[in-house]
Amino acid sequence: MAAKAVCVTGAGGFVASWLVKLLLSKGYTVHGTVREPGSGKYEHLLKLDGASENLTLFRADLLNYDSILSAIAGCAAVFHVASPVPSTVVPNPQVELIEPAVQGTTNVLQACLEAKVQRVVFVSSISAICIGPNMPKDKVIDESYWSDKDYCKKTQNWYCYSKTEAEERALDFAKRTGLDVVSICPSLVLGPILQSTTVNASSLVLPKLLKGGDSFENKTRWIVDVRDLVDAILLVNEKHEEERRYICNAHTIKARDLTEKLKSIYPSYKYPSNFTEVDDYLRLSSEKLESLGWKYRSLEETLIDSVQSYQDAGLLQSQ
Ligand SMILES: NC(=O)c1ccc[n+]([C@@H]2O[C@H](COP(=O)([O-])OP(=O)(O)OC[C@H]3O[C@@H](n4cnc5c(N)ncnc54)[C@H](OP(=O)(O)O)[C@@H]3O)[C@@H](O)[C@H]2O)c1
Repeated sequence: MAAKAVCVTGAGGFVASWLVKLLLSKGYTVHGTVREPGSGKYEHLLKLDGASENLTLFRADLLNYDSILSAIAGCAAVFHVASPVPSTVVPNPQVELIEPAVQGTTNVLQACLEAKVQRVVFVSSISAICIGPNMPKDKVIDESYWSDKDYCKKTQNWYCYSKTEAEERALDFAKRTGLDVVSICPSLVLGPILQSTTVNASSLVLPKLLKGGDSFENKTRWIVDVRDLVDAILLVNEKHEEERRYICNAHTIKARDLTEKLKSIYPSYKYPSNFTEVDDYLRLSSEKLESLGWKYRSLEETLIDSVQSYQDAGLLQSQ
């Protein structure tokens, strides 16, 4: 019997590459969408165990409906991971961020409906849950919360706006059409990188701390390991609960405490000399995901494996 086919959008990205690796290890046939097949930035995918037999890369842009439909055709499940995640301010957020995230998601869901896909897992973010001036600091933040889109616009937080709008529309699309969509909202994703020539935005966070500097904000960091995230993505695809939305967060730590933890493991890096206080602590709950059996590794393991991988990739060379 042919292996079950599934599609992963944006297959060459940080999270998606780990998802493709996991799916291949489980014997799935994987259709991965990429924008530039043949580019060296997808070489790591071709080297994954099982890739030569079970991975096909499709050229697709989120804004090109037919290209998405061709990649999705014949798949039982679709993991919609692709979305722009800029590491710096983008000059034209509407074109570079919002349209691919929002219209791109609608295109993926419409194609899933047309191709009669059984289940879609949409990778959203805690950016769609907890950004706003009125988030209660004395309550546990669960999946019933949504980021304040007007506040995101006012503060020009276009990434958070794009994720919130895209997820709202995705869940609304599911309600209107009956398409089975589950969204998963990860926090900052760390862990070893698989990509060979690109570095995604979240993998720049620890190198920045390790390279030091004068003053850093003592921001709260909500962290999940990429390997635990892809386990969660597969888990919510396989379980058929009523829930449509899952927060995926493992650790909550202030930047200063994170720095101390790193220092105790790697004393010879530079590290920031000073932190300014930020009142942004919120308690996020991944209880729903944990009730499905989701488990996560220790923060120490994530940090050690991340730093090792950044060293191997030459991201810490200025030390
Ligand atoms: N990393 C985090 O900390 C974090 C936290 C919460 C949520 N997330 C979510 O997780 C997902 C993956 O993030 P990541 O960190 O793995 O980012 P990443 O490495 O930058 O990957 C993003 C992917 O999106 C694809 N993409 C962007 N615009 C596209 C378009 N117009 N058409 C087709 N593909 C497009 C890129 O494709 P190309 O390879 O063709 O450029 C890339 O593969 C995103 O939805 C992000 O919002 C990430």
